[in-house]
Amino acid sequence: MNYQTPPSALLPENGCQDQALLNDWHVVGYSRELEAGQLMPITLLERDLVAWRDEQGEVHVWEDLCVHRGAQLSKGWVQDNKLVCPYHGWRYDGTGACALMPSAPSEKPMKKAHTIIHHAQDKYGFIWACIGTPAKDIPVFAEWDDPAYKLTHCGPYQFRSGYRALDNFVDPTHFSFVHPGVNGISDEPDEIPPYEVHEGEDGLYSSEVRVNQPYGDPRNIHVISFYSYKIMRPLVAYLRKRLEIVDPAHQDQGDPADRFCTYFTAQQVDATTSIVRICCGTNFAKQPTDEEVRRRQDIVYEQDSGIVDTQRPERIPVELRYELHHRSDLIGLKYRNWLKSLGVTYGIHGGV
Ligand code: FES
Ligand SMILES: [Fe+2]
Repeated sequence: MNYQTPPSALLPENGCQDQALLNDWHVVGYSRELEAGQLMPITLLERDLVAWRDEQGEVHVWEDLCVHRGAQLSKGWVQDNKLVCPYHGWRYDGTGACALMPSAPSEKPMKKAHTIIHHAQDKYGFIWACIGTPAKDIPVFAEWDDPAYKLTHCGPYQFRSGYRALDNFVDPTHFSFVHPGVNGISDEPDEIPPYEVHEGEDGLYSSEVRVNQPYGDPRNIHVISFYSYKIMRPLVAYLRKRLEIVDPAHQDQGDPADRFCTYFTAQQVDATTSIVRICCGTNFAKQPTDEEVRRRQDIVYEQDSGIVDTQRPERIPVELRYELHHRSDLIGLKYRNWLKSLGVTYGIHGGV
Protein backbone atom coordinates (compact mmCIF):
# COMPACT_ATOMS: atom_id res chain seq x y z
CA MET A 1 0.00 0.00 0.00
CA ASN A 2 1.12 3.48 -0.80
CA TYR A 3 0.59 5.46 2.41
CA GLN A 4 1.19 9.18 2.07
CA THR A 5 1.11 12.20 4.30
CA PRO A 6 -1.26 14.78 2.87
CA PRO A 7 0.28 18.11 1.81
CA SER A 8 0.29 20.45 4.80
CA ALA A 9 -1.98 22.91 2.97
CA LEU A 10 -4.75 20.33 3.26
CA LEU A 11 -4.44 19.77 7.00
CA PRO A 12 -6.08 21.82 9.74
CA GLU A 13 -3.63 24.45 10.97
CA ASN A 14 -4.04 23.68 14.65
CA GLY A 15 -4.80 20.01 14.45
CA CYS A 16 -3.14 17.22 16.37
CA GLN A 17 0.63 17.04 16.04
CA ASP A 18 1.20 14.42 18.77
CA GLN A 19 3.02 11.40 17.39
CA ALA A 20 1.56 9.32 20.24
CA LEU A 21 -1.94 9.93 18.85
CA LEU A 22 -1.18 10.13 15.13
CA ASN A 23 0.62 6.76 15.25
CA ASP A 24 -2.10 5.14 17.36
CA TRP A 25 -5.21 3.22 16.32
CA HIS A 26 -8.53 4.95 16.97
CA VAL A 27 -12.04 3.54 16.84
CA VAL A 28 -14.04 5.60 14.34
CA GLY A 29 -17.22 3.52 13.99
CA TYR A 30 -18.93 0.17 14.50
CA SER A 31 -18.31 -2.57 11.93
CA ARG A 32 -22.06 -3.04 11.50
CA GLU A 33 -22.47 0.58 10.33
CA LEU A 34 -20.44 -0.04 7.20
CA GLU A 35 -21.72 -2.66 4.81
CA ALA A 36 -20.08 -3.58 1.49
CA GLY A 37 -20.64 -0.80 -1.01
CA GLN A 38 -21.25 1.82 1.69
CA LEU A 39 -19.17 4.79 2.80
CA MET A 40 -19.23 7.05 5.82
CA PRO A 41 -17.63 10.37 6.67
CA ILE A 42 -15.48 10.49 9.81
CA THR A 43 -13.68 13.23 11.69
CA LEU A 44 -10.72 12.13 13.77
CA LEU A 45 -8.39 14.60 15.51
CA GLU A 46 -9.85 17.33 13.24
CA ARG A 47 -9.01 15.36 10.10
CA ASP A 48 -11.87 14.71 7.69
CA LEU A 49 -11.75 11.12 6.51
CA VAL A 50 -13.93 8.77 4.54
CA ALA A 51 -14.35 5.08 5.34
CA TRP A 52 -15.78 2.62 2.84
CA ARG A 53 -16.11 -1.13 2.49
CA ASP A 54 -15.44 -2.97 -0.74
CA GLU A 55 -17.08 -6.13 -2.04
CA GLN A 56 -14.37 -8.30 -0.49
CA GLY A 57 -15.31 -6.89 2.91
CA GLU A 58 -12.13 -4.85 3.28
CA VAL A 59 -12.47 -1.50 5.00
CA HIS A 60 -10.63 1.53 3.62
CA VAL A 61 -10.02 4.82 5.39
CA TRP A 62 -8.83 7.70 3.25
CA GLU A 63 -8.45 11.43 3.53
CA ASP A 64 -11.85 12.84 2.60
CA LEU A 65 -10.43 14.61 -0.38
CA CYS A 66 -10.12 14.01 -4.08
CA VAL A 67 -6.63 14.85 -5.33
CA HIS A 68 -8.10 16.25 -8.55
CA ARG A 69 -9.85 19.40 -7.31
CA GLY A 70 -10.27 18.68 -3.62
CA ALA A 71 -13.93 17.64 -3.52
CA GLN A 72 -15.10 15.56 -0.57
CA LEU A 73 -15.05 11.89 -1.46
CA SER A 74 -17.61 11.14 1.27
CA LYS A 75 -20.19 12.98 -0.85
CA GLY A 76 -19.61 10.37 -3.55
CA TRP A 77 -20.64 6.73 -3.75
CA VAL A 78 -19.33 3.21 -4.33
CA GLN A 79 -19.80 1.72 -7.79
CA ASP A 80 -18.18 -1.35 -9.34
CA ASN A 81 -16.15 -1.82 -6.15
CA LYS A 82 -14.62 1.66 -6.50
CA LEU A 83 -15.18 4.94 -4.73
CA VAL A 84 -16.54 7.55 -7.12
CA CYS A 85 -15.76 11.23 -6.56
CA PRO A 86 -18.99 13.27 -6.73
CA TYR A 87 -17.42 16.13 -8.72
CA HIS A 88 -15.95 14.75 -11.97
CA GLY A 89 -16.54 11.08 -11.34
CA TRP A 90 -12.97 9.86 -10.98
CA ARG A 91 -13.12 6.30 -9.72
CA TYR A 92 -10.63 5.03 -7.14
CA ASP A 93 -10.04 1.34 -6.51
CA GLY A 94 -9.27 -0.28 -3.15
CA THR A 95 -5.58 0.58 -3.38
CA GLY A 96 -6.48 4.27 -3.78
CA ALA A 97 -5.38 4.40 -7.41
CA CYS A 98 -7.60 6.17 -9.92
CA ALA A 99 -8.87 3.52 -12.33
CA LEU A 100 -11.06 5.71 -14.49
CA MET A 101 -11.31 9.39 -15.43
CA PRO A 102 -14.68 9.69 -17.21
CA SER A 103 -13.50 12.74 -19.19
CA ALA A 104 -10.85 10.51 -20.82
CA PRO A 105 -12.15 6.96 -20.45
CA SER A 106 -9.64 5.35 -22.79
CA GLU A 107 -6.60 6.96 -21.12
CA LYS A 108 -4.74 5.28 -18.30
CA PRO A 109 -4.98 7.72 -15.35
CA MET A 110 -1.68 9.29 -14.33
CA LYS A 111 0.17 7.68 -11.42
CA LYS A 112 -0.33 10.71 -9.20
CA ALA A 113 -4.09 10.29 -9.42
CA HIS A 114 -4.11 8.41 -6.13
CA THR A 115 -6.06 9.13 -2.95
CA ILE A 116 -4.37 9.73 0.38
CA ILE A 117 -4.88 6.43 2.13
CA HIS A 118 -4.59 5.58 5.81
CA HIS A 119 -4.28 2.41 7.83
CA ALA A 120 -7.62 0.75 8.54
CA GLN A 121 -8.78 -2.39 10.32
CA ASP A 122 -12.07 -4.02 11.18
CA LYS A 123 -11.54 -5.63 14.57
CA TYR A 124 -13.65 -6.42 17.64
CA GLY A 125 -16.74 -5.12 15.85
CA PHE A 126 -15.19 -1.68 15.43
CA ILE A 127 -13.70 0.23 12.50
CA TRP A 128 -10.22 1.43 13.42
CA ALA A 129 -8.06 4.05 11.72
CA CYS A 130 -4.49 5.22 12.11
CA ILE A 131 -3.59 8.44 10.29
CA GLY A 132 0.15 8.08 10.94
CA THR A 133 2.25 4.92 11.06
CA PRO A 134 0.96 2.43 13.62
CA ALA A 135 3.45 2.14 16.49
CA LYS A 136 1.64 -0.88 17.97
CA ASP A 137 -1.21 -3.17 17.07
CA ILE A 138 -4.74 -2.66 18.34
CA PRO A 139 -4.90 -3.44 22.09
CA VAL A 140 -6.02 -6.99 22.81
CA PHE A 141 -9.61 -7.73 23.83
CA ALA A 142 -9.13 -11.30 25.03
CA GLU A 143 -12.83 -12.10 25.59
CA TRP A 144 -13.55 -11.48 21.90
CA ASP A 145 -12.12 -14.91 21.07
CA ASP A 146 -13.48 -16.68 24.14
CA PRO A 147 -16.65 -18.62 23.29
CA ALA A 148 -17.78 -18.45 26.95
CA TYR A 149 -18.47 -14.73 26.48
CA LYS A 150 -21.49 -13.03 25.04
CA LEU A 151 -20.48 -9.66 23.63
CA THR A 152 -22.66 -6.61 23.11
CA HIS A 153 -21.64 -3.30 21.56
CA CYS A 154 -23.15 -0.28 23.27
CA GLY A 155 -23.18 3.43 22.51
CA PRO A 156 -22.24 5.67 20.85
CA TYR A 157 -22.09 8.07 23.80
CA GLN A 158 -21.21 11.71 23.28
CA PHE A 159 -18.69 13.32 25.60
CA ARG A 160 -16.68 16.49 25.32
CA SER A 161 -13.30 15.10 26.36
CA GLY A 162 -12.51 11.47 25.61
CA TYR A 163 -9.75 11.64 28.23
CA ARG A 164 -12.24 12.86 30.84
CA ALA A 165 -14.59 10.05 29.81
CA LEU A 166 -11.80 7.48 30.18
CA ASP A 167 -10.76 8.96 33.53
CA ASN A 168 -14.38 8.51 34.65
CA PHE A 169 -14.48 4.93 33.30
CA VAL A 170 -11.61 3.95 35.62
CA ASP A 171 -12.90 5.89 38.66
CA PRO A 172 -14.46 3.64 41.35
CA THR A 173 -15.17 6.51 43.78
CA HIS A 174 -18.07 8.20 41.94
CA PHE A 175 -20.48 5.27 41.81
CA SER A 176 -22.68 6.07 44.83
CA PHE A 177 -23.13 9.68 43.72
CA VAL A 178 -23.49 9.52 39.96
CA HIS A 179 -25.07 6.05 39.74
CA PRO A 180 -27.16 5.63 42.91
CA GLY A 181 -29.19 2.43 42.84
CA VAL A 182 -27.12 1.16 39.91
CA ASN A 183 -23.36 1.11 40.51
CA GLY A 184 -23.55 2.22 44.13
CA ILE A 185 -25.80 3.02 47.10
CA SER A 186 -26.27 6.73 47.78
CA ASP A 187 -26.28 6.51 51.60
CA GLU A 188 -23.48 3.97 51.74
CA PRO A 189 -20.57 5.08 49.56
CA ASP A 190 -17.89 2.45 49.35
CA GLU A 191 -14.74 2.95 51.31
CA ILE A 192 -11.92 2.32 48.84
CA PRO A 193 -9.00 0.59 50.54
CA PRO A 194 -5.56 1.25 49.07
CA TYR A 195 -5.07 -0.41 45.69
CA GLU A 196 -2.12 -0.61 43.34
CA VAL A 197 -1.49 0.52 39.80
CA HIS A 198 1.43 -0.83 37.80
CA GLU A 199 2.80 0.28 34.49
CA GLY A 200 3.48 -2.57 32.08
CA GLU A 201 4.41 -2.78 28.43
CA ASP A 202 0.84 -2.23 27.41
CA GLY A 203 -0.18 0.55 29.76
CA LEU A 204 -1.50 0.75 33.32
CA TYR A 205 -3.00 -2.10 35.35
CA SER A 206 -4.84 -1.84 38.67
CA SER A 207 -5.28 -4.41 41.39
CA GLU A 208 -8.86 -5.23 42.45
CA VAL A 209 -11.19 -2.61 43.92
CA ARG A 210 -14.26 -3.82 45.85
CA VAL A 211 -17.62 -2.03 45.51
CA ASN A 212 -21.23 -2.71 46.48
CA GLN A 213 -23.59 -2.53 43.49
CA PRO A 214 -27.39 -2.90 43.54
CA TYR A 215 -27.54 -3.22 39.72
CA GLY A 216 -23.93 -3.99 38.88
CA ASP A 217 -24.52 -6.06 35.75
CA PRO A 218 -27.33 -6.79 33.30
CA ARG A 219 -29.00 -9.35 35.64
CA ASN A 220 -30.30 -6.44 37.76
CA ILE A 221 -29.50 -8.13 41.08
CA HIS A 222 -27.45 -6.91 44.04
CA VAL A 223 -23.75 -7.86 43.66
CA ILE A 224 -20.39 -7.13 45.22
CA SER A 225 -18.04 -6.31 42.36
CA PHE A 226 -14.27 -6.51 42.31
CA TYR A 227 -12.99 -4.21 39.54
CA SER A 228 -9.67 -4.58 37.73
CA TYR A 229 -8.80 -1.81 35.31
CA LYS A 230 -6.39 -1.53 32.40
CA ILE A 231 -5.53 1.61 30.45
CA MET A 232 -3.96 0.35 27.23
CA ARG A 233 -3.80 3.50 25.13
CA PRO A 234 -4.48 7.20 25.67
CA LEU A 235 -8.10 6.60 24.57
CA VAL A 236 -8.62 2.84 25.01
CA ALA A 237 -9.26 1.12 28.35
CA TYR A 238 -10.77 -2.02 29.78
CA LEU A 239 -12.39 -3.24 32.95
CA ARG A 240 -13.17 -6.68 34.23
CA LYS A 241 -15.19 -7.35 37.30
CA ARG A 242 -15.57 -10.43 39.40
CA LEU A 243 -19.08 -10.68 40.79
CA GLU A 244 -20.48 -12.10 44.02
CA ILE A 245 -24.24 -12.30 44.39
CA VAL A 246 -25.39 -10.82 47.73
CA ASP A 247 -28.94 -12.15 48.16
CA PRO A 248 -29.06 -15.90 48.90
CA ALA A 249 -32.39 -16.02 47.05
CA HIS A 250 -30.56 -15.12 43.83
CA GLN A 251 -27.58 -17.46 44.25
CA ASP A 252 -28.89 -19.73 41.51
CA GLN A 253 -28.43 -16.87 39.01
CA GLY A 254 -24.65 -17.07 39.01
CA ASP A 255 -21.46 -18.64 40.26
CA PRO A 256 -17.96 -17.54 41.35
CA ALA A 257 -16.62 -17.69 37.79
CA ASP A 258 -18.99 -14.89 36.65
CA ARG A 259 -17.32 -11.92 35.05
CA PHE A 260 -18.48 -8.71 33.42
CA CYS A 261 -16.01 -6.87 31.20
CA THR A 262 -16.01 -3.73 29.09
CA TYR A 263 -13.66 -2.69 26.31
CA PHE A 264 -13.83 1.11 26.17
CA THR A 265 -12.81 3.36 23.27
CA ALA A 266 -13.02 7.10 22.69
CA GLN A 267 -12.70 8.85 19.32
CA GLN A 268 -11.40 12.36 19.81
CA VAL A 269 -13.19 14.20 16.98
CA ASP A 270 -11.62 17.52 17.90
CA ALA A 271 -10.05 18.79 21.10
CA THR A 272 -13.38 19.03 22.95
CA THR A 273 -15.69 16.60 21.15
CA SER A 274 -15.51 12.85 21.46
CA ILE A 275 -17.52 9.70 20.82
CA VAL A 276 -17.33 6.78 23.24
CA ARG A 277 -18.05 3.29 21.95
CA ILE A 278 -17.84 0.21 24.11
CA CYS A 279 -18.23 -3.55 23.95
CA CYS A 280 -19.45 -5.43 27.03
CA GLY A 281 -18.92 -9.12 27.71
CA THR A 282 -20.47 -11.58 30.16
CA ASN A 283 -19.84 -15.30 30.74
CA PHE A 284 -22.98 -15.98 32.77
CA ALA A 285 -24.72 -19.37 32.63
CA LYS A 286 -27.90 -17.55 31.57
CA GLN A 287 -26.68 -14.80 29.29
CA PRO A 288 -28.46 -11.43 29.22
CA THR A 289 -30.07 -10.15 26.05
CA ASP A 290 -28.42 -7.34 24.09
CA GLU A 291 -31.30 -5.09 25.19
CA GLU A 292 -30.65 -5.87 28.87
CA VAL A 293 -26.97 -5.03 28.47
CA ARG A 294 -27.61 -1.81 26.54
CA ARG A 295 -30.37 -0.63 28.86
CA ARG A 296 -27.99 -0.56 31.81
CA GLN A 297 -25.07 0.93 29.89
CA ASP A 298 -27.27 3.67 28.42
CA ILE A 299 -28.36 4.68 31.93
CA VAL A 300 -24.79 4.67 33.27
CA TYR A 301 -23.18 6.62 30.42
CA GLU A 302 -25.92 9.23 30.38
CA GLN A 303 -25.39 9.77 34.10
CA ASP A 304 -21.63 9.96 33.55
CA SER A 305 -21.69 12.46 30.68
CA GLY A 306 -24.10 14.67 32.66
CA ILE A 307 -21.30 15.24 35.18
CA VAL A 308 -18.13 14.70 33.13
CA ASP A 309 -19.11 17.29 30.54
CA THR A 310 -19.39 19.91 33.29
CA GLN A 311 -15.84 19.40 34.58
CA ARG A 312 -13.51 22.34 34.33
CA PRO A 313 -11.15 22.84 32.75
CA GLU A 314 -12.94 21.16 29.86
CA ARG A 315 -9.62 19.70 28.71
CA ILE A 316 -8.10 17.36 31.25
CA PRO A 317 -5.05 18.74 33.04
CA VAL A 318 -2.04 16.44 33.22
CA GLU A 319 -0.16 18.82 35.50
CA LEU A 320 -1.08 17.51 38.93
CA ARG A 321 -1.11 20.96 40.57
CA TYR A 322 -4.39 21.90 38.83
CA GLU A 323 -6.45 19.35 40.76
CA LEU A 324 -6.47 17.59 44.11
CA HIS A 325 -5.50 13.96 44.25
CA HIS A 326 -6.30 11.45 46.97
CA ARG A 327 -4.83 7.94 47.15
CA SER A 328 -8.24 6.57 46.09
CA ASP A 329 -7.75 8.46 42.79
CA LEU A 330 -4.50 6.60 42.13
CA ILE A 331 -5.38 5.27 38.69
CA GLY A 332 -6.57 8.69 37.48
CA LEU A 333 -3.40 10.27 38.78
CA LYS A 334 -1.25 7.66 37.05
CA TYR A 335 -3.26 8.18 33.83
CA ARG A 336 -2.42 11.89 33.87
CA ASN A 337 1.28 11.17 34.45
CA TRP A 338 1.26 8.53 31.71
CA LEU A 339 -0.39 10.84 29.15
CA LYS A 340 2.27 13.41 29.95
CA SER A 341 5.08 10.87 29.61
CA LEU A 342 3.72 9.79 26.21
CA GLY A 343 3.83 13.40 25.02
CA VAL A 344 0.05 13.71 24.58
CA THR A 345 -0.89 17.39 24.36
CA TYR A 346 -3.86 17.39 21.98
CA GLY A 347 -7.09 18.03 23.90
CA ILE A 348 -5.09 18.46 27.09
CA HIS A 349 -5.32 21.57 29.27
CA GLY A 350 -2.50 23.90 28.25
CA GLY A 351 -1.84 21.82 25.13
CA VAL A 352 -3.15 22.12 21.59
S1 FES B 1 -12.56 16.77 -7.74
FE1 FES B 1 -12.81 14.64 -7.72
S2 FES B 1 -13.02 14.10 -9.76
FE2 FES B 1 -12.64 16.21 -9.81
FE1 LIG C 1 -19.64 6.26 35.88
